[in-house]
Amino acid sequence: MPDAGLRWRVPDVPGVFEAASAWRHPQPFLEVVRQTYGHLLLESLGGTYSWTIRPANRDQFRRAGLTTLGEYIDRFLQDDPRPLPYLAHVSVHRNLPALKRYLVPPPEFGPNWVDEPRYDRWSGPEIYVGRRGCYFAGLHVDHCNVHVGFVQLSGRKRFTVFPPADGQYLYTWRGVQFPYQRRNSAVRLFQPDWAERWPDACKASPRVIDVGPGQGLVLPANWWHVTQVLEAGVTWNVRIVNHTNIAPFIREHLLGIPRGIGLAASRLRDRVAGRKPAWP
Ligand SMILES: [Fe+2]
Repeated sequence: MPDAGLRWRVPDVPGVFEAASAWRHPQPFLEVVRQTYGHLLLESLGGTYSWTIRPANRDQFRRAGLTTLGEYIDRFLQDDPRPLPYLAHVSVHRNLPALKRYLVPPPEFGPNWVDEPRYDRWSGPEIYVGRRGCYFAGLHVDHCNVHVGFVQLSGRKRFTVFPPADGQYLYTWRGVQFPYQRRNSAVRLFQPDWAERWPDACKASPRVIDVGPGQGLVLPANWWHVTQVLEAGVTWNVRIVNHTNIAPFIREHLLGIPRGIGLAASRLRDRVAGRKPAWP
């Protein structure tokens, strides 16, 4: 087992490990959330990148007739057959702060220099709750060369991951937020015709990793990933910055400055020319 210190090394390839003691509370996670934060409005929840729930998610909850986090958890736990959208990007620091002390990162996550509220823009520990069939379809890498640690608090999730070098085959596009990295892929792996629509993606080398209850996973920086829920459950994830990636983490922020200037200039040129601006 690696030391949680400077001797820690990020794995070359993501792998599953036991992390059953990550949740240090005698009651199941969702029971504690229900008791402590069941009153929260679903519309008030949000994660690292936007701090508000995604508009599409908000519509899903409205259509499902759900208003509070407690209603959501009740429907989830009671196996209620009515539809239940994926509850994604719930910020631990902002929405569930009293639970933070019970979520103890396993040693495999290594040291994390940004896992505190003031650095939440980078670490953003988040919770995902979903039933079988829920998925996160947008193939991407996380921002600024962070590693990402996951623990399945319950249920089972499938990660489809690609090594960083596969980005050349994945029809990438630039993120709209600083530092404007090309860290999103147009490929939609859950569409049955993805191989015809994005043929270069067939040259890539995906790996499928299933993470079960009480298991963890570390995705090294810049591994592409999508996820799907195989068995209803809860995922906790946190982004990691330490001695292994602090230099590229800072470099990515610095690169965002000329990228931002270039993007602003191209938007200005489009406006002057009367063209519809296209996001590169
Ligand atoms: Fe991610």
